[in-house]
Amino acid sequence: MAPKQLVSLGHGKNKLRGLKRVPRSSLNEGRSGRLFRRLDPAPELPAKKLRELAESMREPKGSGGKLDNPKIPSGYTYFGQFIDHDLTFDPVSSLQRKNDPDALVDFRSPRFDLDSVYGSGPEDEPFLYVQPGRQRLVIDPKNVKGEPDLQRNSDGVALIGDPRNDENIIVGQLQLIWLRFHNKVVDKVSADKSVAEERRFEVAQRLVRWHYQWLILNDFLPRVVGPDPLKNRVKQTKDGVAIDTRWFAPKNDLFMPVEFSVAAYRFGHSMIRPSYDLNNIVTDRPVFIPGEKVGELDDLRGFRPLPGAWTIDWSHFLDGAPGKAAKPQLSRKIDAHLSPGLFDLPGFPNAESSLAFRNLKRGEALGLPSGQDVAELMGLKPLTGKKLGAPEPTPLWFYILKESGLGGGGHLGPVGGEIVADVMLGLLREDNHSFVNQNPKFKPSLGSKAGKFELADMVKFAFS
Ligand code: HEM
Repeated sequence: MAPKQLVSLGHGKNKLRGLKRVPRSSLNEGRSGRLFRRLDPAPELPAKKLRELAESMREPKGSGGKLDNPKIPSGYTYFGQFIDHDLTFDPVSSLQRKNDPDALVDFRSPRFDLDSVYGSGPEDEPFLYVQPGRQRLVIDPKNVKGEPDLQRNSDGVALIGDPRNDENIIVGQLQLIWLRFHNKVVDKVSADKSVAEERRFEVAQRLVRWHYQWLILNDFLPRVVGPDPLKNRVKQTKDGVAIDTRWFAPKNDLFMPVEFSVAAYRFGHSMIRPSYDLNNIVTDRPVFIPGEKVGELDDLRGFRPLPGAWTIDWSHFLDGAPGKAAKPQLSRKIDAHLSPGLFDLPGFPNAESSLAFRNLKRGEALGLPSGQDVAELMGLKPLTGKKLGAPEPTPLWFYILKESGLGGGGHLGPVGGEIVADVMLGLLREDNHSFVNQNPKFKPSLGSKAGKFELADMVKFAFS
C-alpha cells in the first residue's frame, strides 16, 4: 500500500473546488470555524474585478530593495509556511474525511505539535524513524548528489510527516533542519542517564515541541504582529506565562478559524522574495518561473531531490546562523505586493495559477466578512476602499495586507495583528500539552544564551 503522504497533495495543491458553496454551520466547532460569527459574508465581486484586484498585487518591476523589510530576515517567511503546515496538516486518511464532507467533526485539532515532523508517530509511521529504537528521524545523509536531503522514494517523493514541506527547496531544507534538531535533542537526552531508554523519544519530543512553541511565542509572533497585540494578551506572572484572548474562545474542541487560515495568516505570501541566494555559490535563483518544462537548476520549486550544491547556508536567511554570509537576505514587506513567480504557480492550470486570485476566490467561497466590517467590530476606524485602492467592501485578505503596507509593512497592522495574535495565542493556550499549560515557567535550554532562543539558535543546535 502506498504510504499516506504519496496520496496527499502539496501545499495548496487542492483544486479550487466547492467555491460556490459557503458552509455556515451553526456550530463553531469542527475542523474549521469562524471568529466573527455575526458578520455577514462580504458581497462577491464580479470575476473580472476580482482578477483585476489580484493583478494589482503584482510587485512592480525594478522595485528591488524598496520592498524589503529591514526588520524580518527571510528565514522567517519559511518558518511561517512551516508553522502553517503544522497547524493545517490533517494526518487522517481522506477516506475518513469523506464521511464528513462539511468538516463538522474534528478529526484533528490544530496544534503546535510538529506533526509535520513526527507524522502520526513511530508506531503508525515507522518509515519516518531510524530502526532499531525508532527514536531518531530518518534523514538521507548523502543523496545522489552527495548532500544531506529528505529521505525519498524512487520517484523522488519525500517521505516526511507532511508532504507540503517539500513544496519548495527552502521549506524542504527547513524541514531537514527540524529533523536534525530532533536527532540532536535525542543525543542530548540519551546522555542523561536519569532518563530510561524507553522514555527517551517522549522526553526529546517534548523538549523539541516546547522549544518550537517558545519560538512561536517569543520570536516569530513579536516579529510579525509587532508589540501592540501582545501587550494585553501575554503576561508574565509569578506562575509563569499566562495568555488572554479577545476573539478566539473555543467552547469545546479547538478549531481553525477561516478568518485566520484563509485571510490573515496568508500574510506570509507577501513576504516571499522573487529570488534567493541559497549559499555563496547558488545565487539569485527565482522562486518559480512559468511553465512545467524548466531545467533542474532554473527555479526553487520542490517535490524533487535536492540538486547538487543547493544545501542552504542558513546565514543567508537568518542573523546569527552558522555560515558565510555577512548578513541575511531580508523578507519582503508585509503589504499588498506579491512576487511575480507567485502569479504562475507550477502545477496549476493557467487560469488558477495566480496565488493572489486563489486567495481572494477562496475568501469569497468561504464567506469571509469584509475588512471594513471586521475593523468596525474591533472598534477600529475602517479604512475606505479609496484609501486602500480597492473595491469597498474590501476582501479581508487584501484589506489586511494593504493596512499593513500603509503602516510601513514592517509587521501586520491593527486588524491583521489582532487576528493572527489572538488565534495563535489561543491555540497555544487551549492545547493541554503545550508548555503554557504543562510547564508555564519553561525556559529554553538549547540556545546559546540561557533563557534565550531564536530561530538561528535552533539551526545552530541542529548543526552542533
Ligand atoms: C513559496 C512559498 C509559498 C507558496 C508557493 C504558497 C502557496 C500556497 C497555495 C497555492 C495555497 C493554496 C491557495 C488556495 O487554493 O486557497 C496556500 C495556502 C496557504 N498558505 Fe501558502 N504558500 C507559500 C508560503 C506561505 C507562507 C510564508 C505562509 C504564511 C506565513 C503561507 C500561509 C498559507 C496559509 C495559511 C494557507 C491556507 C492553509 C493551507 O492550505 O495550507 N504560505 N499557499
